[in-house]
Amino acid sequence: MCGIVGYVGKKEASPILVEGLSKLEYRGYDSAGIAVIDKDVIEISKCKGRLANLKDKLDTSPVKGKIGIGHTRWATHGEPSDINSHPHTSENGSISVVHNGIIENYLHLREWLSSKGYKFYSETDTEVIPNLICHFYNGDLLDAVMKAVSKMEGSYALGVVSCDEPDKIVAVRKDSPLVVGVGTDEFFIASDVPAILNRTRDVYYLNDKEFVVLNDAGVKIYSPEGDEIKKELVTVTWDADAAEKGGYEHFMIKEIHEQPKAIRDTMTSRIIPGQPITLDNIKMTKADIENIDRIYIVACGTAYHAGVVGKYVIEKLAKIPVEIDIASEFRYRDPIINEKTLMIALSQSGETADTLAALREAKTKGARVIAITNVVGSSIAREADDVIYTWAGLEIAVASTKAYTTQLILMYVVALYFAQHKNTLGVDEIEKIKNEMLSLPEKVSEVLKHKEVLQKFAANNYMHKDMFFLGRGLDYAVAMEGSLKTKEISYIHSEAYAGGELKHGTIALIEKGTAVIAIATQESLYGKMISNVKEVTTRGANVLGFALEGNTSIESTVDSAFYLPKTIDILSPVLSVIPLQLVAYYMAIQKGCDVDKPRNLAKSVTVE
Ligand code: F6R
Repeated sequence: MCGIVGYVGKKEASPILVEGLSKLEYRGYDSAGIAVIDKDVIEISKCKGRLANLKDKLDTSPVKGKIGIGHTRWATHGEPSDINSHPHTSENGSISVVHNGIIENYLHLREWLSSKGYKFYSETDTEVIPNLICHFYNGDLLDAVMKAVSKMEGSYALGVVSCDEPDKIVAVRKDSPLVVGVGTDEFFIASDVPAILNRTRDVYYLNDKEFVVLNDAGVKIYSPEGDEIKKELVTVTWDADAAEKGGYEHFMIKEIHEQPKAIRDTMTSRIIPGQPITLDNIKMTKADIENIDRIYIVACGTAYHAGVVGKYVIEKLAKIPVEIDIASEFRYRDPIINEKTLMIALSQSGETADTLAALREAKTKGARVIAITNVVGSSIAREADDVIYTWAGLEIAVASTKAYTTQLILMYVVALYFAQHKNTLGVDEIEKIKNEMLSLPEKVSEVLKHKEVLQKFAANNYMHKDMFFLGRGLDYAVAMEGSLKTKEISYIHSEAYAGGELKHGTIALIEKGTAVIAIATQESLYGKMISNVKEVTTRGANVLGFALEGNTSIESTVDSAFYLPKTIDILSPVLSVIPLQLVAYYMAIQKGCDVDKPRNLAKSVTVE
């Protein structure tokens, strides 16, 4: 996490750096800082807390200069504080660095540098970097950065400036994202495209261990071996307005309302009535698909929850065994992988370090990897054998919403694609599911019109310390996502439980007034689920129940009911997650939480 930016050009750097950081705050917001060079002096301004604090500081004490680097931090090593904020500077004051990632051998490097007389002032891993560069500096900043990174283990995207070469920024990445922006007489580095989208749409995506030197005359890129290389300049087609709230109070609620469009866009050209499902430029042949004997879906957080739905539907429709794994666990449990294994790496950002590491592990062992991601050109997209994009558009709120629903759509598309090739479903059955899928955007819009019951439940329950989400089958998979949304933005402890499992222990926690959301959209499990809901209402729980339109019998069991448009069982997660996102949102608002930037979190988790 953390976001870095850099600017060199003919304008004042400071406002441009701050503007860029404002688009990267989703990556971390524990502190912020910039380093700007004026003539041959590096001026630093940095402080604990949100970017707003840095802005205030810069208003009273501006820093001047036309070249600089900036950082917004998600603390890993060392508490959020002024001293631990980036940029970090070498002890002699000549080199300043912003860093996203973790230097895993920093203690060793710190000891080594200390033995040579270097002093350290912060608790961060980053502070070794400027000192290491300083140690190797012999009149050539690029050469010193190359030598320094050869000693570093871990992950990094770095922006480096030196008062000895005040006209340039040197940058490099390994396992942390970094793009280079090319404008007219101005050049940029950034952790992510939105930071520079107001200034340029032309970017280079750097690969691991590629170095870049930027000055006001242009950009030079070097291979890990130090040879100058040419790369393709990519023009970003995103709409810059996507990074604005467009009249909504928060990005999260805006993104919740964008779901009908995101779902429609993600189905476009893949699901067309009467035509076979197409999967972009996926290079798998019918024989390749028949050869698969096991699929691992690997992901983290919300993407993992989409993967749980994926397991159900791929097994049900395509009859291929699927395991769903938390990415950070996958590679350490020695999973059985061979050339018949397919991994689906699911990641909104395409940069999640745990998912990337799992992908690499699977590839090393001979598996084929399909990435499902929302970010074109991201590391996971580039390293996978095939990529399928969720066309959700830019997702800024830390709590994922439209990325989840579009990931669900691609889980269905992949399941149907395999079913079509393996003949595990008839043409008519596939057409029926496709037609039902095409009606989902409409149905999501319908769900979004009815918020009163949800607002009332949120108003009556936001002060609770604990909550439970119950469901069976796919409703259980969605319950997990509802529970995560609640935890992360409204800070209410919550648990998702399979309806039938509660009585094996957890029901001991249910007492008078316990808040429960029960999801009962699976026609085949409706009766059983209602019995499970009765088990908690009998013990005094206050239950909001979700059911499909027409299943009004739920009203005799729950305190309040919310109805979802009718759909087929496998597709209901796309509808039932919407009220769960809304309830979490309304509870967070009632509690006065910072919805778009929940405490301790960052959107893009680029450390393991
Ligand atoms: C929760 C959330 C996280 C992410 C997780 C994986 O709302 O956003 O749980 O889903 O960090 O991120 P990606 O999908 O970018 O790999």
